[in-house]
Amino acid sequence: MKPRHFLTLLDLEPSELRGILERARELKVMQKRRELYQPFKGYVMGMIFEKSSTRTRVSFETGMDQLGGHALFLSPRDTQLGRGEPIEDSARVLSSMVDIIMVRTFGHEKIERFAAYSSVPVINALTDAYHPCQLLADIQTFIEHRGDIRGKTVCWIGDGNNMCHSYINAARQLDFKLKIACPAGYEPARELVEDNADRVTVLRDPTEAARGAHLLVTDVWASMGQEDESHQRIEEFAGYQLNEELLEFADDDALYMHCLPAHRGEEISASLMEREDTVIWEEAENRLHAQKALVEFLLNHSG
Ligand code: CP
Ligand code: NVA
Repeated sequence: MKPRHFLTLLDLEPSELRGILERARELKVMQKRRELYQPFKGYVMGMIFEKSSTRTRVSFETGMDQLGGHALFLSPRDTQLGRGEPIEDSARVLSSMVDIIMVRTFGHEKIERFAAYSSVPVINALTDAYHPCQLLADIQTFIEHRGDIRGKTVCWIGDGNNMCHSYINAARQLDFKLKIACPAGYEPARELVEDNADRVTVLRDPTEAARGAHLLVTDVWASMGQEDESHQRIEEFAGYQLNEELLEFADDDALYMHCLPAHRGEEISASLMEREDTVIWEEAENRLHAQKALVEFLLNHSG
């Protein structure tokens, strides 16, 4: 059997995604009861991080441990990956030793190349183009609080970045409407928008995008690797903050999310971050449960 990879949300059928989201909720309940569930004793995950991480590293490492397996942190600083060993060679060697690999890197084509040469499942733990694991957690959180997201309206505020691209894929796979508000020059990839024109709209006015939305989402204005543009972006994104005023335009029951880390006072107001009823912390916790369900699915569906 060929390995199943998870490089974008399009790698899984909508029914498979829904199955993983349901399973995530079951695994969460089991974990809260401290039920031991260790189907992957002796399994090892390789975790390649070319960018920093708190949530992704801790959730995968903890998740593998809870499933009975083990995770290895591999940074380019102390592996041959950082000294120019070809991706194709690294993929062949690592996948001959471990059972599943997650990769956080820059260009999306790097992970595609890695996956093409890997004999075990490869998970995208964030590239410049996509962050599909975060979407599993976000959608799980929405379902837990509001039920199915099908037919709902989601509003994206800010940069048309990797998170925004994954929201576009999620809109397609899980059948919701997505209204994106971003400043000129920071739109998501045109082809992705055009391919999903039946569900996705790109606007300039954040209030128009927020109107009637059931979920509002934002992310940092400068992603990892764009630190040099931070100052310019702070100027250009002024007015694109997720805050109490913007929330007024949304549905009365609207939720709001942020994948974190957040910059209070930039893309999100401090008051929203500190609200008692925010689901942002659950959203972060759900990375653990959703990714355990993902790992279980990929390992059970690969030879
Ligand atoms: N949201 C997210 O992926 O966080 P980390 O960068 O801390 O992994
Ligand atoms: N868009 C952000 C997400 C961080 C989890 C980045 O790529 O840095």
